[in-house]
Amino acid sequence: MPDLDAPQRQTPDSLMLFGFWYRALPADQVRRNQLHKATLLEIPLVIGRDKKGLPFALRDACPHRGMPLHCGQFDGQQVECSYHGWRFDAHSGQCQLIPSLTSDQKLKIDRIYAGSYPCEERDSYIWVFMHEPGPSGAGFTKAADAPVNVPEVEKFSGKYRTAYLTADMPVSVDHGIIGLMDPAHGPFVHQAWWWRKRESIHEKHKHFEPIPNGFRMSAHTPSSNSAPYKLLRMYADADSTTTTIDFVLPNMRLETIRAGKMWFSSLTTVTPIGRSQCRIDVVACWNIFNAVPFVPSILKFVFAKFVEQDRHTMELQAEGLKQNPHLMLIDDADRPAKWYFGLKAAHLEAKRSGGEMKHPMSGPVTLRWRS
Ligand code: FES
Ligand SMILES: [Fe+2]
Repeated sequence: MPDLDAPQRQTPDSLMLFGFWYRALPADQVRRNQLHKATLLEIPLVIGRDKKGLPFALRDACPHRGMPLHCGQFDGQQVECSYHGWRFDAHSGQCQLIPSLTSDQKLKIDRIYAGSYPCEERDSYIWVFMHEPGPSGAGFTKAADAPVNVPEVEKFSGKYRTAYLTADMPVSVDHGIIGLMDPAHGPFVHQAWWWRKRESIHEKHKHFEPIPNGFRMSAHTPSSNSAPYKLLRMYADADSTTTTIDFVLPNMRLETIRAGKMWFSSLTTVTPIGRSQCRIDVVACWNIFNAVPFVPSILKFVFAKFVEQDRHTMELQAEGLKQNPHLMLIDDADRPAKWYFGLKAAHLEAKRSGGEMKHPMSGPVTLRWRS
């Protein structure tokens, strides 16, 4: 295998993958009886909560003449379009009323639907299942259910704390994701006196293995060159600390750190908003350090700082990407990025052919890099 591929134009396919759950909005931003705008995979949505608090997601375009539904009224049950007052059930999207019809006009309004998407609240977010574009419940078709469950942050005890962070990134979802799995930017982007110094860069080797729809960086004792990990081992009184990081299509990074009874778990997603716009959302749950004053706040601060550093870096990168320059991925540091593109291509090919998905990894691999 050549260790350097010929430089290529960026994002051979900045394709967005339909047929998955995506985080649409932080749950605490979505109030009862209100309508909110959101965009997922270039599709405008209107998101709300009914009077019982249950979330819903409709396509933000009236099936009559396309008026955005978020401009309308919502009484906690039905959404009323602001143009001609057609009313739709917020969950099913089914038309309930067309005010202009006279009593002898027998249009079957229950055959009309505003596009509606499966929508659920999980771990501080409103999630929406994005079916293939096209007739997703709009016009005369009912919405279909989601074929899989909403992803979830893994928890290892009944009591835990949780927090979330969100940041918009002005790059395609592909750049957002490979930025997330890139091990070589740490010493340059995430420098801080309490985390690590640039001089602490050293050679690492990590084991990776294929998992369904993704790959796993296998459990290991985290690098000893950062103070928080040393602290954790001391505090948890555990012989070892294990970290597992999974990447799973379309956009999920799941990290688990366990030390004895202590655990930290997060689910980070990079959500495609448009061709060159994505959003990173991190939800973390943990039972570590809860008894120690200030530590949870410090953890949140550290996390927010990392995400802000990544966001700022991608904002600068977006400048460079504007003219669509040739780019390259190198071994081994960019191998996870190559697997990501491989997984995406394999997924699309399996969908096209109707066959099994061919995983780009044939077995466990050890990667080496300096960081
Ligand atoms: S455009 Fe919505 S009711 Fe006419
Ligand atoms: Fe980063």
